[in-house]
Amino acid sequence: MKGSPVYFDLSAAPGRTAYNLLIGLVAPRPIAWVTSLDAEGRLNAAPFSAYNYVSIDPPVLALGVARAPERESGEKDTYLNIRATGEFVVNVVDDALVEAMNVCAVDFPRGVDEIAQAGLSAAPSTRIRPPRIAQAPAAMECRVHTILSLGNSNVVLGRVEAVHVRDALVDTAGPYIRAEELHAVGRMNGLGAYVRTRGAFFQVPRLDYRAWLRERGGS
Ligand SMILES: Cc1cc2nc3c(=O)[nH]c(=O)nc-3n(C[C@H](O)[C@H](O)[C@H](O)COP(=O)(O)O)c2cc1C
Repeated sequence: MKGSPVYFDLSAAPGRTAYNLLIGLVAPRPIAWVTSLDAEGRLNAAPFSAYNYVSIDPPVLALGVARAPERESGEKDTYLNIRATGEFVVNVVDDALVEAMNVCAVDFPRGVDEIAQAGLSAAPSTRIRPPRIAQAPAAMECRVHTILSLGNSNVVLGRVEAVHVRDALVDTAGPYIRAEELHAVGRMNGLGAYVRTRGAFFQVPRLDYRAWLRERGGS
C-alpha cells in the first residue's frame, strides 16, 4: 500500500544497511572533533558523530569509533591514540570550521598532522597532554573512563576533566552556553549532509502538570 512504512529487518540486513538507516534517523548528530597524541607525541585530529554526552555525574561523553579493517593496524588512529595514552580532547565544530573539520576526515597516513593540513593551529590543554584546536569555539579535555568493544566498533567513554569556551559564548549567570551564538553544526545522513543551527532556534518552554492542564483548557 502506498504510504505504508518501508520495513527493514536488521538481523538479516548487511551492515551497510544498518549504517545508512541509523545515521539517517539518529540525526542531526553533534560532531566530536577529536584531537589526540600517539605514543611519540604526534598530533592527530578526526571528526566523530557517533557521539553524545551520556552522564553528568560523572561528566562522561561517548564516542563510537569504527574499526578500520583496510588499515594495517585494523583501527583508526584516534582509537589507537586514545587506547595508548588514555587522553583526548573533543573540540566543537562551528559554521566557520566545517571545511577544516572535513579535511581532518581524510584518511591520511598515520603520523600526518591533520590540524596543520587543515590550516589550523593547536593550543595547549590544561589537564592533559593532547592540545585542543585553537580556532574551535569550545573544547573538552577528556580522560578515558571505559572502552567497550562492540563488534565492529570501540565505544570510548571519556570523563570530561576540563572545559574551554570562547568568552563571548558563556553566560556567567548559569553558567550557560549562549547556544544561539555557538553556531554549532550537526551531521545528517552521511551523504555529506549537515545542518546549521545559526538562526534556527525556537523556544519550547517545559510544562509542569498544572501548566499542561491550563494549556488543554482544564482547571
Ligand atoms: C562528520 C563526520 C563524522 C564522522 N563520524 C564518525 C564516527 O562516528 N565514527 C567513525 O568511526 N568514523 C567517523 N567518521 C570518519 C572518520 O572521521 C575518519 O575515518 C577519519 O579518517 C578517522 O581518522 P583517524 O584515523 O585519524 O582517527 C566521520 C567523518 C565525518 C566527516
